[in-house]
Amino acid sequence: MRIVLVGPPGAGKGTQAQFIASHLSIPKISTGDIFRANVSGGTELGRKAKEFMDRGDLVPDEITIEMVRDRLAEDDATDGFLLDGFPRNVPQAETLKKMLAEMDTRLDVVLELVVDEEEVVRRLSGRRTCAGCEKIWHVDFDDKQDDICDDCGGRLFQRDDDKEEVVRHRLEVYQEQTAPLVQFYADEGILVGIDATGPVEEVTQRALAALRPYE
Ligand code: AP5
Ligand code: ZN
Repeated sequence: MRIVLVGPPGAGKGTQAQFIASHLSIPKISTGDIFRANVSGGTELGRKAKEFMDRGDLVPDEITIEMVRDRLAEDDATDGFLLDGFPRNVPQAETLKKMLAEMDTRLDVVLELVVDEEEVVRRLSGRRTCAGCEKIWHVDFDDKQDDICDDCGGRLFQRDDDKEEVVRHRLEVYQEQTAPLVQFYADEGILVGIDATGPVEEVTQRALAALRPYE
């Protein structure tokens, strides 16, 4: 299956992507994760992306699109993938459509995670990410008393772009540039939305149920 996850920062895309991708045995492709890996690895791509990410702005399309093109060309993505964080604006969506058409394929479904702004701010302010296995935690919801990953023993860190003023700007960028994708994919007839509030496992169940008709 070829799936795109869409939703505001903090909606739980990364959290749900882990479960959905492993359940469907497809790779999870997160542009945010790839950028962050490049930033921490000190690559040229990371150097270019960092200034935009630190401000909460989108990394320019020409950089992002080439990176996704390369990733989709890898062997593990030929039979399906779950995109998390891409596309992020209408030009990226149009490019993705063309890219897939050149590969004689197309998206099956776009899953929108619907959650209000107040909840998103609460989720992002308590988010911690594992430096070892990339698992996403929350200080309150997962009752994390220390900064050690329960799964792998790695150290948990707070993302630079989870500072309050950057979060606010990311939400504005979402409304201006990413929210129009919801209509774009509704017009294509491949959009399904789910309520992304409530416990993580319940959201996963809702997501898998919404995706089932497309399997
Ligand atoms: P990116 O990494 O994609 O960030 P984002 O879209 O802002 O999304 P987040 O990762 O913040 O949130 P999420 O929805 O994944 O939530 P999560 O599961 O972590 O992008 C970062 C930056 O990279 C961008 O600003 C941009 O600069 C650049 N970039 C990336 N892609 C790009 C593109 N295509 N074009 C241009 N630039 C691009 O959950 C959040 C928290 O809530 C966690 O702590 C989690 O434990 C908790 N949580 C999750 N679900 C629940 C639940 N049901 N109940 C309670 N808590 C929950
Ligand atoms: Zn870990």
